[in-house]
Amino acid sequence: MTSATVAPDAGASAAPLSPVEGSVIGRAVHVKVPATSANLGPGFDTLGLALARYDELDVEATDAATHDIQVHGVGEGEVPLDESHLVVRAIAHTFAHAGIPLPSLRLVARNSIPHGRGLGSSGAAIVAGVVAAKGLLEGIVEFGPDELLELATQLEEHPDNVAPALFGGLTIAWVTPEGPRHKKLIVHRGVSPLVLVPEHEMSTALARSLQPESVPHEDAVFNVSRSALLIAALIQSPELLLQATEDKLHQHYRAQAMPETDRLIGVLRAAGHPAVVSGAGPSILVLANDPSTRADAVRLVEEAADTAWQALPLAVDFKGATVVPAD
Ligand code: HSE
Repeated sequence: MTSATVAPDAGASAAPLSPVEGSVIGRAVHVKVPATSANLGPGFDTLGLALARYDELDVEATDAATHDIQVHGVGEGEVPLDESHLVVRAIAHTFAHAGIPLPSLRLVARNSIPHGRGLGSSGAAIVAGVVAAKGLLEGIVEFGPDELLELATQLEEHPDNVAPALFGGLTIAWVTPEGPRHKKLIVHRGVSPLVLVPEHEMSTALARSLQPESVPHEDAVFNVSRSALLIAALIQSPELLLQATEDKLHQHYRAQAMPETDRLIGVLRAAGHPAVVSGAGPSILVLANDPSTRADAVRLVEEAADTAWQALPLAVDFKGATVVPAD
């Protein structure tokens, strides 16, 4: 891991706070983090796409006795409002990595990324915490992109959601002995993502428990070819997306846990739509190569589905997470 550096002249506040700690109190940042869809069919634990739907947070370092956490929108009344809140855990993780004591936090989250649906809500919360900490520590500790990705991946355990949430666009993420790395690519403007979200949730841990220890060599070769093709399709040749989104590494192993997702993907793909499980599911991502075909996909799902599915036509987010000083 690249280590963070603490500027020698950081802060100059009065006792009883240490100089560095004192310099953080009163700082406030505004953070915006996109939803993400991971895997994209064949790119298991590797490929991810940032989507233009966001969680936004205001975070302030205070000298109060305890954290003050409010959550509005998705997760309101459900997620914990103490130090176990995932954003607070990610801020604490980043401060600990930097060797800076964690101040109390006033945190107001306005969430619109659905939870437990395969749209990277936990990755977004983790990235929100990491970039909020980066913003609060601006001028005191500098963080490089690899370091941000490593901090987020340490909490998320795989990099394919946190990489696009941090950097935007299409990301290839891979793990090296020195930590996770990423390459960001700009998606062809013809690619028009559609996300179909069911009412029920799916646990990533359950989905991961259904994966076998090993896979047939020919299936691995199948996915190598489709993953390579998928990069070409997403950045240059969207007409190849249907073949490029084929997968033999994860979706059929998990199908028993999300039968309607599996069935609807079959219906969509038979009609020529490049549909895949979004992340660990149960949402469906359709990588349409023309905005007009998205309406056809929505109609098909309305006709074929047994339960209600919400259709979200989402643009690709090209920026990734942003952090600015709060007004
Ligand atoms: N690559 C991960 C998986 C994404 O499919 O398990 C879900 O977080």
